[in-house]
This record gives sequence, structure tokens and C-alpha cells, in this order.
Amino acid sequence: MGTYFGVDYYPEHWPRERWETDAKLMQEMGVDVARLAEFSWSKLEPSLGEFNFGWLDEAITVLADRGIKIILGTPSAAPPAWIISANPEIQPIDYEGRVRYFGGRHHDCQSNLVYREHIKRYVTAFAAHFGDNPNVIGWQIDNELGNSHHQLCMCPSCEDHFRQWLQNKYGDIETLNTKWGNTFWSQEYQNFSQILAPKITVTGHNPSALLDWKLFCSDLIVDFHKFQSVILRQAAPGKFITQNMMGFEDKVNYYDLAEDIEFTSHDQYPGGHFHPTQNERKSDKLAAALDLMRATKDKPFWIMEQQSGITGWEVLGRAPKPGELGMWSAQAVAHGADCIVYFRWRTCTMGTEQYWHGILPHSGIPGRYYNELKTFVHKMKPLMKEIQGALPKSKVAIIYSYNQKYAIDIQPHHPDMTYIGHVMKYYTALYDRNVPVDFINDDADFTKYDLVIAPLQYLMTPELESRYQAYVKGGGNLVLTMRAGVKDDTNLCRVAGALPMGGLRELVGVEVHEYDCLRDITGWVLWNGQRYACEMWSDIINLTGAKELATYDFEFYTGTPVITENAYGDGTVYYVGTEPGADLAAKLVDEFITKHDICTWGETPPGMEIAARSSNGTDYIFVINHTGDNRMVTIPDDWKAYFEGQSASINPYSINVYTRSNN
Ligand code: GLA
Ligand code: ZN
Repeated sequence: MGTYFGVDYYPEHWPRERWETDAKLMQEMGVDVARLAEFSWSKLEPSLGEFNFGWLDEAITVLADRGIKIILGTPSAAPPAWIISANPEIQPIDYEGRVRYFGGRHHDCQSNLVYREHIKRYVTAFAAHFGDNPNVIGWQIDNELGNSHHQLCMCPSCEDHFRQWLQNKYGDIETLNTKWGNTFWSQEYQNFSQILAPKITVTGHNPSALLDWKLFCSDLIVDFHKFQSVILRQAAPGKFITQNMMGFEDKVNYYDLAEDIEFTSHDQYPGGHFHPTQNERKSDKLAAALDLMRATKDKPFWIMEQQSGITGWEVLGRAPKPGELGMWSAQAVAHGADCIVYFRWRTCTMGTEQYWHGILPHSGIPGRYYNELKTFVHKMKPLMKEIQGALPKSKVAIIYSYNQKYAIDIQPHHPDMTYIGHVMKYYTALYDRNVPVDFINDDADFTKYDLVIAPLQYLMTPELESRYQAYVKGGGNLVLTMRAGVKDDTNLCRVAGALPMGGLRELVGVEVHEYDCLRDITGWVLWNGQRYACEMWSDIINLTGAKELATYDFEFYTGTPVITENAYGDGTVYYVGTEPGADLAAKLVDEFITKHDICTWGETPPGMEIAARSSNGTDYIFVINHTGDNRMVTIPDDWKAYFEGQSASINPYSINVYTRSNN
């Protein structure tokens, strides 16, 4: 997949005479790849079957003459007006049954067969035309699949596909009635044709139906991707296909989507959309998003859109501080990005994204962003070549599961509880200690890790229980948290004795007969005489073999265990019956680090991060200063400064890189 620096470029937004200037400026900045055409349908097929690829050929040539390779997007995220007026039925229907009309983008239904025919015609011609252009190295299908489709699409076509999907899953309607618990509120179906999408109704929907709807929507997007990838692979073999994902967005299960691409790409906008939380700490969240993107294929990834200026549509965010654009890019590299593509080359003068700033301002005259990135790109290029393909070496994993996320989001228990929020408690505590972490799916190989943290294992199957048992039996160390084993995989509550149910109970050595939802109250935990806050939830725990590490220090369950440790086989299982506050999470992580000899990259002051990638023989260690002040870190003697002139004091929003032999 190579290593590149690139830009997202829209030549069709600018006069033809400007293209050479752009290409020259790009080349001088060190750009060697550009993504084009993912929103250019109306310009490339102005009417049915009339393909107008000439201008794009020309743009590719202008860029290629400057040594810039090309990624082409298929334009299915924005069908043109002539398609919509010929086939208005492809517009999506939302949760309230309303048509979402043409006028922005994403005004499409991904299951609609008429729309698929339009896509097939376009992608076939597009692939045939550009497939043998040696400057085109790969494809991106659609754009940020899942974006804007959260309440979409609930049209008759999607409902038909949903019914078909359910029929494949359950076979007959009696089974579906049982698996969804449809005796409740008289919800039994006589046949599949009665089933609708979970549209606006009077009360809350059936959680089992909602879970299947989410699973179906994810599968539909994977299928939509596959529909295009088959055409591209056949017409143009030898080129990669990638997808620009969106970190923790979840309309599509990214592990599943990643199976149909050569490598994952990610769009990283540290400034967010409208900066509602500008002062909130975010470097941990950015790091987590990068780690999740790496997890989707367990290999290096690309940043396909990296913020390159102020973000904003109607309302704007803060200006990136001097150094920040490079620092964000370097953080992505430290977590496994082999390529960074900046969104966008030049700030657009028209349309919804007039204020989503590019490297160049509206005027096209290079300014601070351009100069900073130019310096950064030239500095980083040799390093990028060296570390290409290397990955962070993590001995700690956090299970990140879309199914658990879907189920918790359907019933968050506490109004402030989210799956990501709970997962992030553990992630952030590890991040603050500079412990490298892998996110993994629950079907991954656990045995690679000294510690597996499995938060909110709410939906449980006998197979997953056995996987956890086997891991711990063989010497693994596992952390399970509140609400483990509560439900089965169709979102029905299990009934086999006390929580955590089934095989997990013996594993953790505790029983939970009662619990408490911490509405409008902060909980307290006592651990070695120290008091720590906890949130959201209390499992009231009886020990049946485990030993207690910490107890509650509030409410009628004061003095009962909240964190426990159980020896099982050759390993250890921890159970955490609450959501830890930040201090408690930090204490837990310290406990794990000490007990299991977990490697960390050292201690850093607040706002600093150390992350590394390891090749055969060398660790490349990035020390990142996310703050606006100069910061010092104590550097071990065997770390060698990578960049010339690198001093012990690290400038605001910048990085130092060190190498260390790992032989
Ligand atoms: C997303 C999209 C881009 C652009 C940017 C800015 O990441 O992929 O097309 O819309 O956001 O809004
Ligand atoms: Zn639809």
C-alpha cells in the first residue's frame, strides 16, 4: 500500500487554468497522492449513459506529471438531480416516514434496486475507463459509508430487504416470535410480510427488533459496498479498494466492512463539526479512534481525510494552533497510519462546505497551513518510509464489539451511559499511562495478550463464554465489567440463576443478585483506605470464590464488594461491578500494570503522549506534546533522537521521535 502524503482535491471546483498551479504547489509541499471524484457524478455522467470522463483524464495527467498518484472515488453518496427526477423512489425515507429530498448529499436508498442499476452502469463505465490508467492506484467506494444514514432508510425497499434478512436468519415466523419475545404486548406475527422497519411508533420499540434492525442495516451497507467492489475488482484487477471510515461511528460494523477492502482509511477531524466541546480533552479520544481503525484489519491504515484548517459548515470551529496540523498527523502515524491525506486541498467557495477549510484559503494563496504542512511532510517522509508496515506492539487488548454497542445504545440503562463512554474509561486510563492498547473484536485471538479488558459483555453466547474461559484457563488475565452475561444474542434476558449468567459465573467467582442504577448520585468505592468515585451502576456482589479488592462506600450496600479478583485455571479474572470514575479507572490500571508486568512507554506530564511502532529490530517512539506549552519528558538513555536538533524540551503541539533497538 506504500507510504504517501496526499490531498483530497476537487479540480472540477476550479478553473482549468488553475490546475497546473495546484499541482505544482502540491508537489512542492511533498504531496504524492490525491483522491478525486467521489462527489463528481453530475460532471462525469451529465445525463443517462453520457459519460464525460475527459476532464478527469486531464486532471489526472496534470497531477501525474508532478508525480502524484490518484485514488478515485465512486460517487454513490450523491446521485445527481437527473437520476432523482427520473427515479424519485430512490430517495430515502426516514424514521418518521418522511422523504429526505435532494438538496444535500446522501439522498439515496442503498437497497433500492433501481439505484443499484444506476450505480452499476456508472461504476462499470468508470472502472473500464480508468482501470488501465497506471496513475490510478486504487478506489474508494462511496464516501464514509454510514454517514448521515442514521435514521435511514426505512423505505418499502429496505423493509422488504429487512424481511428477507429476517427470514434467512430465523427460517420461520414462530422462531422469530420466540427470539424477539413477541408474546409481550401482543406483538406476535403470523407471517414475515407483517414486519415493518422500526419506524416512529407510540412507545419504545421491542429491543430485540431494534437490535436486528441495526444488524440488518450494517449488513446492507456491507452488501452495498460489495455490489461495487465486485465490479471494480473485475474490471480493474490489481488496484486496491479502501473505505474512509469514521472512527467510532457505528451505522456499519467496520470489522465486517474491512473484510472487503485492502486496507482501512479513516477521516480524522480533531476539531469536530461545530466545536461544542472545544475545551474538552480529546487527545485520548483521537488516539482511541486511530486504534480502532487499526483494529479493523490489524494492519496499518491510511488517513484519507485529515483536518487541514478550521472545520465548520454553518458554524465554525477554532483555528488549528501553529503546529497542530502536523501533530495530529504524527499522532495518526504513531498509532499505525502509513499515509496521510489532507481534506481538502483548497477551501471551497461554494456549497455546504464553504467554511470547512482546506490547506489553501479561498484565495488559493498558500498561507500558514500550507507552510506548516510543507515543513512537516518533508521532515516526516524519510521516517514514514522506514516505519512503513510496522505496528504498535500491544500486550493489552480492549474488546470493542458492535453488537454490544448496539444493544447498550438501545437500552443504555442510565441516561448518561454509553458503550463508548464505558469503554473509554479503561482506554483513557491506559492511554494516560502510555500503555499501548489494541482494540479487538470478540472473535480475535486473545492469547496474544497479557490482559484482555472486556467491558459491558451484555449480550452473551455459550461460544463467547467458552472463549473467555479458555483464555483464562490457559493463563490469560481478563477483566469483565457490570452487566456481563445479562442477555442472549437476540436481546432477551437470560434466566439461568444469578448474574453473570452461564459460564461467566464460575469464571468470575461472584454472584450478582441485585443491582442499583445510580440516577442523580455519584457512588463511592473504598480501596485500600482510599475513596474513589464511581458512576452509573452498582452490581451488588456476593463472593462465591473470588476475593474482594474494593468495596462500596455508600448506600445500603456499603462494605460489599465492587471489584473482585478470581484465580481461574492459570489466569486471573477481575470483575468490576460499576463504571469507574477517572481516578478509579487509573487505580485499576495501575493494579493491572503492577500485577501483570504490563509494559508502558513511561511517565509523561498531562497533555503528553508516548506511542510507538515497532519494526523488526527497532522501536520508533513518538513523544507527542498536545499542549500549548513547552514540555519536558525524561528520556531513557537507550533512546536515540531521530530528528536532528531535537531537544529535550518539546515545543507546543509538536513531536519528538526516538528509536530504540528491540532485539
Ligand atoms: C466528511 C466527508 C467529506 C467532507 C468532510 C467535511 O468527512 O467525507 O466529504 O464532507 O466530512 O464535512
Ligand atoms: Zn430504503
